[in-house]
Amino acid sequence: MEHKRLSPFPKDFLWGSASAAYQVEGAWDKDGKGPSVWDEFVRIPGTTFKETNGDVAVDHYHRYKEDVALMAEQGLKAYRFSIAWSRVLPTGRGEINEQGLQFYDDLIDELIAHNIKPVVTLYHWDIPQGLQDAYGGWESRQIIEDFTTYAAILFERFNGRVHHWVTLNEQNVFISHGYQLAYHPPGVSDEKRMYNANHNANLANASAINKFRELGTSGKIGPSFAYGPNYAIDAHPKNELAALNAEEFNANFWMDIYVWGEYPKAIFHWLEEQGWAPEILPGDTELLKKGKPDFMGVNYYRTMTNAFNPIDGVGHGKMNTTGEKGTSEEKGVPGLFKIQDNPYLEKTNWDWEIDPTGLRIGLRRIASRYRLPILITENGLGEYDSLTDDKEIHDEYRIDYLRQHSLAIQEAITDGVEMLGYCTWSFTDLLSWLNGYQKRYGFVYVDREENDEKELKRYKKDSFYWYQKTIKENGANLVDE
Ligand code: GAL
Repeated sequence: MEHKRLSPFPKDFLWGSASAAYQVEGAWDKDGKGPSVWDEFVRIPGTTFKETNGDVAVDHYHRYKEDVALMAEQGLKAYRFSIAWSRVLPTGRGEINEQGLQFYDDLIDELIAHNIKPVVTLYHWDIPQGLQDAYGGWESRQIIEDFTTYAAILFERFNGRVHHWVTLNEQNVFISHGYQLAYHPPGVSDEKRMYNANHNANLANASAINKFRELGTSGKIGPSFAYGPNYAIDAHPKNELAALNAEEFNANFWMDIYVWGEYPKAIFHWLEEQGWAPEILPGDTELLKKGKPDFMGVNYYRTMTNAFNPIDGVGHGKMNTTGEKGTSEEKGVPGLFKIQDNPYLEKTNWDWEIDPTGLRIGLRRIASRYRLPILITENGLGEYDSLTDDKEIHDEYRIDYLRQHSLAIQEAITDGVEMLGYCTWSFTDLLSWLNGYQKRYGFVYVDREENDEKELKRYKKDSFYWYQKTIKENGANLVDE
């Protein structure tokens, strides 16, 4: 679709940026916080790049005022962050740790005082270790009640101050990495267990949304989904079918549940054939159908290009967590699809395709299929950055990436997609889970390395000023830049 002229961004468009508790806060055992599964997992040798962990991270817990001042200087309209469940409830349930809750209370007030809207994520992968030990975390249905109780504490405390709520961050990632690929805690590799844990997460998500409504909480709520649209490598019908398999398996399998409360038929049938389908108990479907979100949160980084994969074809392949280009292995799901290099797309040093048009395609697909407004909850470029002797960071590659993706959003708006906002990943540099600190995403450089925290000083990158200008102009000049 080509347009003679692009529609402007809405006046109240949320130009924002994002982070997650474990990746920025540090203070992992301070002020009554209990351990989360990540606090334990990172101590197992060989799980992360150079054995990095989030014990200190970028020390946002102690420096949040400095970070919020930088956000205000940039002109951010929204800041998305997550709450660490085990700061609020050290073992995941029971007594509230008031000091932990107070940290978020103060952060929210600080943001509001600077005219920045808080976008609160209830869960960004750090389930309390207490719940993992008690009943296996997401593998037990007890998680539904405990997650709902935890969510209700936050709804009640922050009602009226927070207007955008995100339930689960990238359920598709934490479930597949945690229970199938064993890259994330609890490090399990078992499909049957994975689909069961996933079904419980679906129920917990819907139950929290229902609680939100029951309590009459103000604002909007929705999940954050890691969506990469799937392409076929070419027009061979077998490859088209592979791309359809991939889209249903990787995306609709989650988003259909969020919006319609039902799994896609062909994929569910395929799971039954493998003996992996989750058990759906009486009442589940009603609960899922009722817990419909107000918006779809989308974390977009890349697209996937697919080809036919026979039943004895390629399966899981290793991920590139070192930043050495070309080290990720071929992967797929035997009998469904395999992922191919797209000859039209460049990749980052971590082998992630760069595809702004893919974002527009994804937004269009979601808007047509689900008829919901969309909030981009993450999008950004993870790259090496270098600090010059003058303490500057010339990250024109990031400016280029963000400009092209912002333009894709404007094009999607012009196509008719309802967009609430754009939260880039990330505001400051932070711990990239398995990838250490060298894979940087921020507008603000944090001077630390894998095994040297240094003084954790903050420096504004060139992209900081580019986004500042873009926000000021409400994205009016993306085409001419
Ligand atoms: C997402 C995740 C973020 C961040 C990002 C970039 O999958 O939600 O926490 O790590 O990837 O790597």
